[in-house]
Order: sequence, then structure tokens, then C-alpha cells
Amino acid sequence: MPQVFTRRHEFLNYIKEQKRNRNSIGFVPTMGALHAGHAQLIKQSTSENNCTVVSIFVNPKQFGPTEDFAKYPRTFQNDVDLIESMGAQAVFSPTVEEMYPPLFATQVSVTGITEVLCGAYRPGHFNGVTTVVMLLMNLAQADKMYLGQKDFQQVQVIKKMVQDLVHSTSIIMVPTIREQDGLALSSRNRYLSEEARQIASAVPKSLAAAAKLFLQGENNIAKLTKASQQELSKFGLEPQYLEFRKVSDLTIKIDTNIQEETVLAIAQFIESNGSKVRLIDNVILDNNSTNKQSLEDLISRAFS
Ligand code: PAF
Repeated sequence: MPQVFTRRHEFLNYIKEQKRNRNSIGFVPTMGALHAGHAQLIKQSTSENNCTVVSIFVNPKQFGPTEDFAKYPRTFQNDVDLIESMGAQAVFSPTVEEMYPPLFATQVSVTGITEVLCGAYRPGHFNGVTTVVMLLMNLAQADKMYLGQKDFQQVQVIKKMVQDLVHSTSIIMVPTIREQDGLALSSRNRYLSEEARQIASAVPKSLAAAAKLFLQGENNIAKLTKASQQELSKFGLEPQYLEFRKVSDLTIKIDTNIQEETVLAIAQFIESNGSKVRLIDNVILDNNSTNKQSLEDLISRAFS
């Protein structure tokens, strides 16, 4: 059974003890409602570190006023069971007041890459993410922190923050885990009705369509965009964004031809039971062999 901490000072004492014992620390920050994607992060951490700590904290600072903070799924006991089954040693699950005491006044903010893609539609979201992640990283003092590729922009923003502020934790991006039909695992998938779940399969299909053309040698953005958008249109969907951006600098939009490592990122609302569920997903368009394999895997799932 992992040790569960709700207070910062108790968690810090535990971390100090790990440091004294010279244990390497792997950290997996989460908002709970864990699924196989999180399990993969924990698995990688336990295989690379002596001690893995997982945080569960639904961070109010990263939700906009009309977003799903109040109804965000909270499944604490299931989460702890999954964390235990993956062999992690500790869980940090503070209350909002414990994380942000009344006089808390600091915000961590990355400029530039937070202003495009999701940042353009969710003002303040990334400030909330960077503020909580910096605080959690300072508590966990990990050697490595594990984040999922599904939130590709989040990973790039956190990498930038860590680089600029010379934090000693290394950021490890773990490939997206997908359902049989290619849908990326997400805590928000549980909001989807059966019908909405069918429609959501258009999202991996649209990424796979572009990936397929790309692997056939197509580099033209107009053609890749058309193939991708066609898959969404078949389901009557219009993306919030569907954009090609330079991996090493997301502020740069690729709009003619792919000449360097590029990410195709999508945000798509799906109607479900009278509300709208926002899904995001991405693929990296690059011909290196590991990436090629993951594109092929997505294509075979999406079009089987
Ligand atoms: O990806 C998430 O679950 C959250 O954004 C994170 C990194 C745990 C920060 O609250």
C-alpha cells in the first residue's frame, strides 16, 4: 500500500527521508481519475527510480470559470488502488487550502508558447498549470518527472519553465496510450455518452489520415490539412483548432511544407448529453523509426 500524504510538511519529511537514503525519486503529477495512460507513466517511473511518488490534485487555478472544475471526476480510492498495483511508494493528495494557503500570492508564467493552440482558447490555463507544477516539483524534488504526450503543449511549456528556471528535475515525455480505435486515453473520456464516444473516434482518424499521407512522403500542409479535416467532416465536426507547429518552438506555425519536426495538434468539442466535451490530441510528424512505429500503430487502430 503506498503511503498517502495530505499535508505538505509530512510529504516533505518523506521526501527528505528518501534523499537521506539516496533513493532516486520519480514523480508523476496527476489530477486523479487515473487510467491506463497514467499507469504507463507510473510504470516507467517505477522502472527508472527507487521511489515513485504520484500527486493527485484537481488544480482550480488551471480551470476557466466556465470549465469543468466542479464536475471533474474524483475517484480517489480507485486511483490509490491503481497506484498500488503499479508499485509506486507514495501518494500526495492535498486539499486546495493546503496547496494554496490564504496568503498564497505567486504565479509562474511562461510566455510565447502558452499563447497558441490551447493557450489561445483557455486564457490563464497554462499559468495555472505552471504555478501548480512548479510548487509540486519543489515539494517532490524528483530526479525525473513523467508527463503524457497527449498534452504535448503542456509538456513543452513545462520543459521551457524547467529550462528557464534551471530546475534540476528532468522531464520525461511518455507516448500516448490509445484505445482500440485510436482514441487517446483521457480522464475526460468518461464524460462521453455511447453515441459521443463513437463520434470521438473521428479525432484519431483525422490525425491518422494526415500521418498516413506523411508516411507516404506528402509534406504539403494544405493536402495534409484537407485529409485530416475530411475525417472530422464525415462526423459533422469542426475542430476548435487543427494546426501544424514546429516541435522545438510551438509559436511557429508551419503553413506551407513540413521541413522540420512538426506536431499536428487538434482540439475538438464533442456534444454529449447536452454538454460539450473538449478533447485534445496530437501526432509528431517525423520519420525517425520510433515515431514512425507510433504513427503506424495509430493508423492501424484508427482505420481497422
Ligand atoms: O496533466 C494534468 O493532469 C495536469 O495538468 C497536471 C500536470 C497534473 C497539473 O495540474
